[in-house]
Amino acid sequence: MAKVHIGKTTELQPGKMKLVKIEGKDEIVLANVGGKFHAMRGHCNHEGGPLWEGELEQNVITCPWHGAKWDVSTGSLVEFPLDLDPEPYYAVTVEGEDLYINV
Ligand code: FES
Repeated sequence: MAKVHIGKTTELQPGKMKLVKIEGKDEIVLANVGGKFHAMRGHCNHEGGPLWEGELEQNVITCPWHGAKWDVSTGSLVEFPLDLDPEPYYAVTVEGEDLYINV
């Protein structure tokens, strides 16, 4: 596991998400939920939809392709007609203004 810098708290306002690319790893969606930062795998387990382009309501991301709802604070599926495996979730640590995950 390596500690990777994924951005700054000042770059992402509450209610917003963004794509984080880490060389050689999954693309990750980083979300600011009311000032708390969460990160999970950025591609939906259904057919690979880009979750960072979906809707964020509280801690739930709605996939822009077919509407699967994911809890960004756990990586688990909230709602979808099919049973999908949880997505990898990455705990975000905050040091000053800097955000890190372990991958
Ligand atoms: S790719 Fe996300 S719901 Fe289908």
